[in-house]
Amino acid sequence: MKVLGIETTCDETGAAVIDGAGNILSDAVYSQIALHKKFYGVVPELASRAHAQKVAGIVKEALQYKGVNRNKPVDAVAFAHGPGLPGALLIGKTAALTVAELYNVPIIGVNHLEGHIYACELNKDGAPTPLEYPLIALTVSGGHTELWYVKDVGNYTFLGATRDDAAGEAFDKVAKLLDLGYPGGPMVEKMAKEGKEGAVKFPRPYMKGTWEFSFSGLKTSVSYYLRDAREINKANICLEFQNAVIDTLVRKTVTAAMEYKVKTVAVGGGVSANSALREAMELACKRRRINARFVAKPFCTDNGVMIAYAGLKKIQKTGGKKNCIKTNPSLKIESWNA
Ligand code: KG4
Ligand code: ZN
Repeated sequence: MKVLGIETTCDETGAAVIDGAGNILSDAVYSQIALHKKFYGVVPELASRAHAQKVAGIVKEALQYKGVNRNKPVDAVAFAHGPGLPGALLIGKTAALTVAELYNVPIIGVNHLEGHIYACELNKDGAPTPLEYPLIALTVSGGHTELWYVKDVGNYTFLGATRDDAAGEAFDKVAKLLDLGYPGGPMVEKMAKEGKEGAVKFPRPYMKGTWEFSFSGLKTSVSYYLRDAREINKANICLEFQNAVIDTLVRKTVTAAMEYKVKTVAVGGGVSANSALREAMELACKRRRINARFVAKPFCTDNGVMIAYAGLKKIQKTGGKKNCIKTNPSLKIESWNA
């Protein structure tokens, strides 16, 4: 069994092939960062055009893995059918349908965020390391910040999401305020390393009594600070902002893990690349004998491997039943047997 995964939800054009055991046979990604940099965010129309331009080449590259059977390079095609940018999603779907028709293989719609969750199992070399269920999943990316109780593969209960900005979006916006460049997460993380603990103070948006998040107020606090402060130390601001985001994410996730009595926490999405977040989550989980799992660094930001892998899991668990390939920009995660 070989599964091709296609990712075009936002600003990465990704395609990858994995085998039935989850080994990665190829992984091709084109990042549009250079294109969106000057706008400090993703411009949907530019994203769609770049996906349209690149997707064929990226898929072709993914299909040239070692030992490929040229008459039938894959047995199924998975693609991210949401959530994401409407035009970008349609380009991924068209590419997936083309390959599926060409080789007469099934096509599977995969939720992009499920891709981020199961990516916690992926290893760069070798077979995946399975997660232990039930678990609490935190998906933190540029577009989403969500907490889920995952009873088993494909069996989800929604706990809460951000009411406004996603954590990654807040990183990007604060980086813009500080003129650090785009995407903001890696820049803020780098700058925070030079910062002094406690030199600046920002609020922790805990949203007590809910599983929800809210990061837009924190971003506003940074902008007011920049407006009013006599001296600006970017490193101190980055460190305190990052600490405020991390404290919030860790506290909510660990509290959920305790309340739902799970032994595992899985953290995925672009922001999960943040080393300070990983360390803080690991420490907080360790204290409570919870196993903290993260996505291996190369697979934190968007890629085709995570879509291929989530697709493989869906095929193995459901046999492709109740499969939906309709694109949906606001797609929510749904249980597979629902
Ligand atoms: O998952 P992803 O590639 O795309 C979406 O699905 O949105 O996540 C991209 C987001 C961006 O907001 C980026 O700033 C953030 O992930 N990010 C980080 C780090 N690396 C990427 N945020 C904090 N620290 C990082 N090291
Ligand atoms: Zn993503």
